[in-house]
Amino acid sequence: MAYETIIVEIEDHIALMKLNRPEAMNALSETLLSELAQALTEAQKNDKVRCIVITGSDKAFAAGADIKMMSEKSFADVFAGDLFTPETEQIMRVRKPIIAAVSGYALGGGCELAMMCDFIICSDTAKFGQPEINLGVVAGIGGTQRLTRLVGKSKAMDMNLTGRFMEAEEAERSGLVSRVVPAKKLMEEAMSAAEKIAEKSMITTMVVKEAVNRSYETTLREGLLFERRVFHSLFATDDQKEGMNAFLEKRSAQFRDR
Ligand code: HXC
Repeated sequence: MAYETIIVEIEDHIALMKLNRPEAMNALSETLLSELAQALTEAQKNDKVRCIVITGSDKAFAAGADIKMMSEKSFADVFAGDLFTPETEQIMRVRKPIIAAVSGYALGGGCELAMMCDFIICSDTAKFGQPEINLGVVAGIGGTQRLTRLVGKSKAMDMNLTGRFMEAEEAERSGLVSRVVPAKKLMEEAMSAAEKIAEKSMITTMVVKEAVNRSYETTLREGLLFERRVFHSLFATDDQKEGMNAFLEKRSAQFRDR
């Protein structure tokens, strides 16, 4: 399917989704967010796709929600229209792993979109920020919530109150990103991580995603019980037998998602 604001390529079990509004630093318009949500839903349904990578350009992953689009809207418009809610809820329903490959600016909604992904690999040029306060608003899709869980209260307050940008090195040190690589290597690194994930049993990768995300939603005791029970349940799969037998037979496992 052809989109206006994103480019989607599916190759070797990986769906690569490139945000493509270069004239606006990939600012998240309603069209872009809804096309991305639609493409992710399609990728979820497509049996060939086993992992998803979302990226932007060298200059910008995304510089936030589209300020031009938002500037004239009233409270009634955004509240009654529930701006950004359907798209973000659709994105959160995707069960396959999603990697954000971030280069350049990931600001406001751009930083929040990256945090909605399962993990972030960034280039050494990446700059993260929640500068909404400079526009007289606050983060709206996770910048006060996911960021706080990722980097702690002090840095989340700092970023949201001052609107300052965080460089890649600090982002890695703070736990916002999982890896920092030289800009030229970003896509190679992200695609190779996606390929590694695509080799696993998809039942298991989806269980991992669900279990890690559960840790945000529940107490430790409940989370541990959930983890133990899904661990137990995986013994009902062929892939558990295959994975363990392959190890014992000193060969690579051939998972069938069964
Ligand atoms: C609309 C944007 C934009 C945005 C950049 N552009 N960010 N358009 N919405 N968020 C446009 C500029 O208007 C300009 O268009 C072109 O992209 C290039 O940007 P410049 O500012 O000229 O580039 P530069 O000087 O290199 O500065 C880059 C920048 C700056 C630091 C990223 O553009 C910037 O501060 N952008 C806004 C960042 C921000 O406040 N984000 C939060 C948005 S609110 P023209 O036509 O002039 O060439 C938000 C709310 C989230 O995200 C809540 C729910 C999603």
